Amino acid sequence: MAKAKIEFVCRECGSSHHQWAGQCLDCKAWNTLEEVVISQSISSKPATLQDLPPSKVHNLSSIKSENRLRLSTGLSELDRTLGGGLVEGSVVLIGGDPGIGKSTLILQAIAAINKDSDTFYVSGEESANQISDRAIRLGISEDILLLSETYLEKIIKISKELQPKVIVIDSIQTMVTDTSSSAPGSVTQVRDCAAQLTQFAKQTNTVVLMIGHVTKGGALAGPRILEHMVDAVLYFEGDAGGRYRIIRAVKNRFGAVNEISVFAMSEAGLQQVENPSAIFLSNQSKPSPGSMVMVTREASRPLLIELQALVDQSSGNPRRVCVGLEQNRLALQLAVLHKHGGITTHDQDVFVNVVGGIKVNETASDLVVMLSIMSSLRDKVIPSDWIAFGEVGLTGEVRPVYNAIERLSEAQKHGFKVAIIPKANSPKKPIKGLKLVPVEYLYQALQYMAENT
Ligand code: TYD
Ligand code: MG
Repeated sequence: MAKAKIEFVCRECGSSHHQWAGQCLDCKAWNTLEEVVISQSISSKPATLQDLPPSKVHNLSSIKSENRLRLSTGLSELDRTLGGGLVEGSVVLIGGDPGIGKSTLILQAIAAINKDSDTFYVSGEESANQISDRAIRLGISEDILLLSETYLEKIIKISKELQPKVIVIDSIQTMVTDTSSSAPGSVTQVRDCAAQLTQFAKQTNTVVLMIGHVTKGGALAGPRILEHMVDAVLYFEGDAGGRYRIIRAVKNRFGAVNEISVFAMSEAGLQQVENPSAIFLSNQSKPSPGSMVMVTREASRPLLIELQALVDQSSGNPRRVCVGLEQNRLALQLAVLHKHGGITTHDQDVFVNVVGGIKVNETASDLVVMLSIMSSLRDKVIPSDWIAFGEVGLTGEVRPVYNAIERLSEAQKHGFKVAIIPKANSPKKPIKGLKLVPVEYLYQALQYMAENT
């Protein structure tokens, strides 16, 4: 008998390794490798070409684009993030921390869809009564078909009979299938269940919405292992304790990525925030050292976001902590501050936080991060009507960012008075009420700050 092949698969990112290790070499997560037995093919004889169905080769130009039907979720912001609604036959993964509002959002969305098309809500986590309680709280009176079940083969069988347009699987980590013998929530179970559901979606042209928990403890396989299988991936950002939830499309085969929508959690579920540009400002009455506002651009809209830095004498190993920004970039920014701005932080703890729990991936945040670090270090208040943006390179140059004019007009609209911007982004025409400070090098921005604060 052939020996079964063993692989070690990371619960977080899904990469496979030949050997066990304490840390995944790909995503660098600790203790996430899980032993997986690869089942050897049972068929004794490999399929010959004659056995296979014929495949058709197409000419690209001869294919007519089908206008795929899109279902509206009733939440225009969510529709926009999806690229205009849910596409028939597509599989969408919705990931996020437990308790952030995944089940709430999806229940609201399918209640709207259910007005025109049949929907089917399968929960492996909650009983029908619990879902009904939530629906009452949300004021939903639609007759949605509910099933509390975790056995995938049963779910698929019932779905074939009911033929709904949309199926919700809450959550994919609670599902179990016969094809895998490992525990629910393990890499193989999650992957096998998702693969069968994807196949079902494509064969029957049904929309499958899969909910996936992101777990920091690593008890369950993370949704990242499914990202390549599905058509669209939406992640929830923001803290479960806070008011706002950001939904970001990190992958979308039918729309733009990095599109975001903002929701506020209320007594009656998630309410969309249609004009979120200024909600990430902390609105302190008295500005304090270390805080500054930046204008980022999240996909198709500019957002004003407040950044806070705290620089404090370190006792021992200096700490560098980022919340909402990339950790490695902070080390780089501190090195540039030292080399090109003459500012030493080697004996200081540096903490940087983005207000509101939103994640900023843009390098356009460099300049603001550096200025707020400087502000905290020197204990100097940056006036609350200043904004800045710009990428800072390793040679201390301030590089341009895209859509600068749009960012500036958003800042002007919200009453900001001074904008420190990359020189290459200077608009040709002045912007009314907004003083522009174009800088070519980091030291110029630091100098302007030192002279005017
Ligand atoms: P839930 O959708 O169950 O989260 P998830 O499915 O992501 O685990 O939402 C859980 C939180 O949302 C819970 O703490 C209660 C809160 N909530 C409200 O504040 N208002 C509401 O109307 C609802 C339904 C939930
Ligand atoms: Mg839930």
